[in-house]
Amino acid sequence: MSALSPINVPVPLIVFRKGIAPPDEILYFASNMPLKLIRNPTEDQLQELGRNCLESAEDLAHINAHPYRNVTVENGAQLLDFLRNQGNGGHCFLVSQDGEIVGFINYGSVIPHHRNAFGLVIGKRYTGRGVATTALSQFLSAAPALGIVEINGYCATANAAIIRVMEINGMVRDPSFQEDGTLKFKAN
Ligand SMILES: CC(C)(COP(=O)(O)OP(=O)(O)OC[C@H]1O[C@@H](n2cnc3c(N)ncnc32)[C@H](O)[C@@H]1OP(=O)(O)O)[C@@H](O)C(=O)NCCC(=O)NCCS
Repeated sequence: MSALSPINVPVPLIVFRKGIAPPDEILYFASNMPLKLIRNPTEDQLQELGRNCLESAEDLAHINAHPYRNVTVENGAQLLDFLRNQGNGGHCFLVSQDGEIVGFINYGSVIPHHRNAFGLVIGKRYTGRGVATTALSQFLSAAPALGIVEINGYCATANAAIIRVMEINGMVRDPSFQEDGTLKFKAN
């Protein structure tokens, strides 16, 4: 881990822990914001996600503000179960900032014609600090090392925040995708 310095490196660094490939932890350093994506999280880490981001009525209202395809999350347990059972080549990454679980990115083909799609949630109390932007940047950079070759983002048309996060990360809208109330963005 000593090879991780210096801080303030402008591009993501992928760190392979000795003897383990691909990594379970992928580290990214932005100025003053150490952010980590945790692949294959433990049950304790998932429970922390639930406590920090999925517990209160306010947390759920935040997540459900712009329901994707009108699907809403009824409670944290339901969402944690979904993350535990990604299957079909899916991935679940928890977003950790300064050692605290603040959100997640999931990836896979849950909806047949929405293939290779990522989802991104940052808990309400951690929003507005650039966490989602940095987490998506790290995920896009780490994807090839994880064998992920295509990344699409599907979202509600009115979800300005995630649209902005994708655009900042260079993702572009696919105008050929036509579905009422849903937009598709592509990486590369
Ligand atoms: C969307 C979400 C991930 C953004 O997380 P975040 O950590 O607050 O995002 P950031 O701080 O990185 O903000 C990135 C940009 O979005 C902008 N933004 C944030 N909220 C916004 C809003 N409501 N309307 C418009 N722009 C918004 C920010 O101003 C920033 O742009 P800037 O750098 O040009 O100022 C978070 O709000 C969330 O989890 N929402 C609920 C779940 C969801 O809708 N997920 C997406 C569906 S897959």
